Amino acid sequence: MSAAVLDVDLTEPATFLRPDLREVWRRLRQGPAYRHPATVHGRAFWVLTSYADVLAVYQNTAVFSSARGNMLASLLPGDDPAGGKLLAVSDPPRHTAVRTMMLRSFSPRVLQPIVAKVRERADSLVRAAVDAGEVDFAAAVAEQLPISTICDLLGVPESDHGLLLRLSKQALSSDEADQSARSTALARNEILLYFAELADRRRADPRDDVTSALATTPVDGQLLSDEEVVLNCYGLILAGDETSRLAMTAAVLDFIRHPGQWRALRDGRVSPTSAVEEILRWNSPAMHVGRTALADVDIAGQTIRAGDVVTAWNAAANLDEAVFDRPDVFDLARTPNRHLAFGYGPHFCLGAYLGRAEVTAVIAALCRTAHDFELRGEPQPLYSTFLRGHISLPVAVTPARRAVTQIGAREWK
Ligand code: HEM
Repeated sequence: MSAAVLDVDLTEPATFLRPDLREVWRRLRQGPAYRHPATVHGRAFWVLTSYADVLAVYQNTAVFSSARGNMLASLLPGDDPAGGKLLAVSDPPRHTAVRTMMLRSFSPRVLQPIVAKVRERADSLVRAAVDAGEVDFAAAVAEQLPISTICDLLGVPESDHGLLLRLSKQALSSDEADQSARSTALARNEILLYFAELADRRRADPRDDVTSALATTPVDGQLLSDEEVVLNCYGLILAGDETSRLAMTAAVLDFIRHPGQWRALRDGRVSPTSAVEEILRWNSPAMHVGRTALADVDIAGQTIRAGDVVTAWNAAANLDEAVFDRPDVFDLARTPNRHLAFGYGPHFCLGAYLGRAEVTAVIAALCRTAHDFELRGEPQPLYSTFLRGHISLPVAVTPARRAVTQIGAREWK
């Protein structure tokens, strides 16, 4: 299939705002691996879109390396400078050893107090949004919760959460016109410096948090370098903040676009667990992952050569009719739902449990406090080739009738 036939440039963020994107994925899935031509953003690369091929890329870390970068934006300009030092962009055996050490901090048991705080925060943020009546859901709720959660995970004191929220916003928003490249770089440096200082404090006085684990646990008999510690702290913000934010904002937009599904969820006819999985499948906030082939390999009817850049599209695989029954139907009761929104295999999202807990907490709070939503302006999409979703979602929220009755009951006591 030629680029002219497809007329699609996957290195351009505007492509992902196309209304016919699902059709593009469908056509790509039907053909062999697609050789995307070079663009102004860099060299040619392979595009894999069927569920089976995407899964094969995730599973085979011996051939498909993450160490030169794991997304187009870092692979096309050249090697990722964090390669081999940051978990997501490292390969076995180092990846396996560091991940095994980090996994202890991500077990459901260890995360229990953090998840309890997630629920508390989600309740109070959603309640405040419902009380306000009209809010930008992305700013009022989604922007607040994930960063605070990651701060808790890393042991950042509550008094510094606001600082980290401001810095991470500044560091991530390089696509915004009013944001200079210089202030973005400054914010990134400030975050790295913040974690260098926090790691020093934790080395002297370890606590029960991820920064302490990274700074004090030997891997293969040696402590991680200062650079590895700091990059992995920042890496958690990069991996877990925007993805979760986009997922919870997407949930509200989905409820507005599919009111029958929202009513089924709100009225308890659909379980929040299956609802969260469908929201993740439907939106696939992390649209693709990138890899570099370390050897020649035959996949999806093509021979990929050592050194080639390969992209595997979760956004397309999660709509594959070979795996999902009626993939173009948004069905909150869908089961089974083996979506690839969190990736798969050795690099499977370390924060999946936490990400799910955050989205579940928000929709549970919405079910308790909100009756209905209405759009109050155009949702503003994110401009990216990697992440998908909305950075602004103006909505009016009608309070749940039950909640009104409860307030009334309290007033009468
Ligand atoms: C990896 C998606 C939330 C931390 C990944 C990968 C995906 C993903 C697709 C695989 C990357 C690859 O194979 O190259 C998501 C989505 C989220 C989410 C959709 C929210 C809905 C989080 C959270 C955290 C987190 C909350 C941490 C607090 C990580 C880390 C990795 C990762 C550390 C790298 C794992 C490794 O390389 O071994 N995520 N993520 N993610 N995620 Fe998430």
